[in-house]
Amino acid sequence: ILFTIIVVIVAFFHPLCLCPRRSLAMNPLLIPEAYIIGAQPLCSQLVGLSQGQKKLCQLYQDHMQYIGEGAKTGIRECQYQFRHRRWNCSTVDNSSVFGRVMHIASRETAFTYAISAAGVVNAVSRACREGELSSCGCSRAARPKDLPRDWLWGGCGDNLLYGYRFSKEFVDAREREKSYTKGSDESARQLMNVHNNEAGRRTVSDLAHVSCKCHGVSGSCSLKTCWLQLADFRKVGDALKEKYDSAAAMKLNARGKLVQRNSKFNAPTSNDLVYLESSPDYCLMNQSTGSLGTVGRLCNKTSEGMDGCELMCCGRGYDQYKAQIVERCHCKFHWCCYVKCKRCTKIVDQFVCK
Ligand SMILES: *[C@@H]1O[C@H](CO)[C@@H](O)[C@H](O)[C@H]1NC(C)=O
Ligand SMILES: *[C@@H]1O[C@H](CO)[C@@H](O)[C@H](O)[C@H]1NC(C)=O
Ligand SMILES: *[C@@H]1O[C@H](CO)[C@@H](O)[C@H](O)[C@H]1NC(C)=O
Ligand SMILES: *[C@@H]1O[C@H](CO)[C@@H](O)[C@H](O)[C@H]1NC(C)=O
Repeated sequence: ILFTIIVVIVAFFHPLCLCPRRSLAMNPLLIPEAYIIGAQPLCSQLVGLSQGQKKLCQLYQDHMQYIGEGAKTGIRECQYQFRHRRWNCSTVDNSSVFGRVMHIASRETAFTYAISAAGVVNAVSRACREGELSSCGCSRAARPKDLPRDWLWGGCGDNLLYGYRFSKEFVDAREREKSYTKGSDESARQLMNVHNNEAGRRTVSDLAHVSCKCHGVSGSCSLKTCWLQLADFRKVGDALKEKYDSAAAMKLNARGKLVQRNSKFNAPTSNDLVYLESSPDYCLMNQSTGSLGTVGRLCNKTSEGMDGCELMCCGRGYDQYKAQIVERCHCKFHWCCYVKCKRCTKIVDQFVCK
């Protein structure tokens, strides 16, 4: 299994009775709940960690749960971002979240590495602020120079610096420990993974911003307290999706470095996504590439985009069904301050790829 982030095979336990629940060879990125058990996972039972990751696990056991939650957030965001695409960020087998497609060094693979790494930075930085981790606390980022002088700096901020450093250490450990022959396919893939992990982390970092709260007599806002705040993870997903669209195709050069395949374009920066191979055909199920195919996917009859039936179904056509959906409706504002809705059922046409 090539998946870098956290390939852990857990014999994990029911949180209450501590009895073995199951012991499957699973990547917890597939089932990140593996980390989120009541008792802290014992590092010796997390088979599949690289040597360096095992050491980090022992030193920072309380971090493991947040790594799992972060990865889970990343997967959920990936599935949201790609909900209208042929490849929908879903798995085909149990060996990793994203299945065999991850063996191909495609731009989809690039995206999943980046968003998982981003999820981990996000989760660890927040956990620091919330006081969940013993080795970090609120952000100690320096006061931004352009902050107005009479505003206070020092609310408890997300500890981006710590989250970034720890995630880099942990997530990249697996890649750093491998030593491949310079110029080999494996080393190219290693460089690609490390690059995309970093791009994911930087995306979180670039989107962090200063957030402030007003104090003072009846909201006069004469006093402000400000702190460092991570962006909503949806924004990270949106930004990475844009980077996915403009990802750079790379190849190894004679010196064993990754370089842009088409030298006419600007070289990608550390913030960009890079890939090595073109994507497999996601139209049809294919065991060898791990593609699930689009048979049975919902499509939009009137859209001309990727979610439209023409593109989604790859020209195979579609079936039409009547489906019942439940919606919030007749919403009323109640004083004060909440909204109450009824639930209405509606019959809609749905289109499903053949
Ligand atoms: C994956 O695991 C689930 C439950 O653990 C099982 O039902 C399913 O058949 C497995 N799928 C594959 C493709 O192995
Ligand atoms: C599966 O994908 C491989 C690689 O692209 C291709 O050579 C093969 O023909 C495909 N198999 C099927 C059944 O489509
Ligand atoms: C992705 O598509 C497959 C079929 O191609 C479907 O079984 C699966 O439920 C979809 N996953 C999500 C998250 O929509
Ligand atoms: C289908 O696509 C059209 C055009 O893009 C859009 O206006 C409409 O809301 C979509 N319908 C659904 C159910 O998503």
